[in-house]
Amino acid sequence: MDKIAVLDFGGQYAHLIANRIRRLGVLAEILIPQDLVDPTTELKNFRGIILSGGPQSVLEKGAPTVDPAIFELKKPVLGICYGLQLLVHSLGGKVKKAGGGEFGKSTLRLASRGQGRKSKLFTEIPKTSTAWMSHGDEVIALPDGFEKIASTENCEFAAIEGIVSGEQRVVKKNKKGKLPTTNYQLPTIFGTQFHPEVAHTEFGEKIFKNFLKITAAKKSWTIDQFLKIEISRIKKQVGKRKVFMLVSGGVDSAVGFALLERALGKKNVFGLMIDHGLLRKNEAEEVHKSLKKAGFENLKIINESGHFLAALKNITDPEEKRRVIGRVFLKVQRKALKRLRFNPREWLLGQGTIYPDTIESAGTANADKIKTHHNRVPEIEAMIEKNLVVEPLAQLYKDEVREVGKKLKLPKSLINRHPFPGPGLGVRILCGESEKPKTTNKIETEIHRKWKIKGKVLPVRSVGVQGDSRSYAHPVALFTTSRDFEKLDEVATWTVNKFSEINRVVLCLNSVKAPRIFQTRFTKLTCSRIDLAREADAIVNKILISKKLYSKVWQFPVVLASVFEFEKEGEAVILRPINSEEAMTANFARLPKSFLNEVTKKLMKLDGVENVFLDITNKPPATIEWE
Ligand code: XMP
Repeated sequence: MDKIAVLDFGGQYAHLIANRIRRLGVLAEILIPQDLVDPTTELKNFRGIILSGGPQSVLEKGAPTVDPAIFELKKPVLGICYGLQLLVHSLGGKVKKAGGGEFGKSTLRLASRGQGRKSKLFTEIPKTSTAWMSHGDEVIALPDGFEKIASTENCEFAAIEGIVSGEQRVVKKNKKGKLPTTNYQLPTIFGTQFHPEVAHTEFGEKIFKNFLKITAAKKSWTIDQFLKIEISRIKKQVGKRKVFMLVSGGVDSAVGFALLERALGKKNVFGLMIDHGLLRKNEAEEVHKSLKKAGFENLKIINESGHFLAALKNITDPEEKRRVIGRVFLKVQRKALKRLRFNPREWLLGQGTIYPDTIESAGTANADKIKTHHNRVPEIEAMIEKNLVVEPLAQLYKDEVREVGKKLKLPKSLINRHPFPGPGLGVRILCGESEKPKTTNKIETEIHRKWKIKGKVLPVRSVGVQGDSRSYAHPVALFTTSRDFEKLDEVATWTVNKFSEINRVVLCLNSVKAPRIFQTRFTKLTCSRIDLAREADAIVNKILISKKLYSKVWQFPVVLASVFEFEKEGEAVILRPINSEEAMTANFARLPKSFLNEVTKKLMKLDGVENVFLDITNKPPATIEWE
């Protein structure tokens, strides 16, 4: 079978590249460059090589690299982001250390190269299109034999192509006055500073199609084939044992459960849903009903909210919250196994982990940690080491999981539910206390000067992902009557790119008048805050469904933060509707004014709610969840 090698330099999207290639019908294998003992030999059987992005700088000592001899293999190579910088650096070009950076949307312009000559990488791609950037460092000079094939406003070398010098000599010798015809005499090495793998790069898929055409790889990969391979892998891993599966009611664990049942038979898979007290309103009952309806019989629900809430009583740090929730999950699961008289030696733990959970928890050799997903806490990692955990979906993205769900004939209502994180409302209620940055006045003044909009830095912080690294920074709230979301998107992107202290922009929905000062106070995960978050979430979802907007949004976290005007001590509800394909990148969803007005009106009536904000940041630079 023809295949493509993806060298993983730790980028958040390295695995997404493999997903894209697979979706185009060609098998892609992810390889860790440091693990290659003899790269030129090991890469010989691949049709093409893709170098992924990564969180480091190629200029840093110890940054991951690969033997430049791979560029002499005369195989098509595509370097993406860090991958582009690495190939430029390795072949004699120059990379400059980051000043600011560029995160999010940008306009890609193909270079005009005379006589209508277009790079093969850009066949059937228009002169201008949207491309998604997420980088700090940038290329400032190309190696010999390379030329620019596209730019953006902030990045001259947004895409390049070339040949290594050895190949150039071959071209010259064989020329005899005629244009070269064989494949390797044409440019074989390509690089893009932007990310063609993310759904928000308009012609990303076409770029990969063009690259695959250059490699001449034949199509042979399908989801059916995945199912066949995975079912036999599960059977081999589990053997004569059984699987105890934690089910959350979300898409991933339901599909994981169904796949395990398909592989092992109904009697050998037991589902347990743990109500940790951080679920949505009526979630446990509704999930139970819909899973039963879908045919899952071996399923039990236990309410352990007391345990979880006691363990979280004094925890305010978001990472610590995730760790505690993960640990209590395991404890409760062990207790349940004992109560049900299961012998732990005969049982494995099943989890519906999907790929983004792994990569954001720094699950690959070169990746930076964005956050620890609850199913990647150290205790689970230790069990994984001992081969005691089955994760049938660990290599897939949400869109692929939904496709597997369809193949397994799960009901649409279950497959199309909005994703809900394992730690639930626990990571949607900001705790602790946070000072505003020292540069607050400067930031607010500059926003006003540039956009004539009043902006206020909020005294809380949330997590973000910038240039493949984790950021933990402040939001800015905008006060304006404008609901021109394209313009507001521009303001948000500019603001986050300009100020490193800021990683999100929100729009105040309940007022256009900015208060003189925003304050915060030390808060914890109390029952009354959880109830408030639950009620706010229920209001938002009810209106979303009644206005037939549920399927127009991919996910809709509703977040609570202690932010208030001088001495009022109320809470802010932050709406975070997004659209995405696989959660690795996302656009904030553009919802109608009538919906936003109705939701704001209802939320402002809740006791303790003082402000309603709408998050208008894309991912990157902000993550979907706030913690
Ligand atoms: P972020 O916030 O990283 O989220 O953009 C990406 C997707 O992952 C979900 N998410 C989680 N899911 N356990 C989960 O099962 C977790 O700890 C967790 N954290 C984030 C998030 O809701 C989004 O769909």
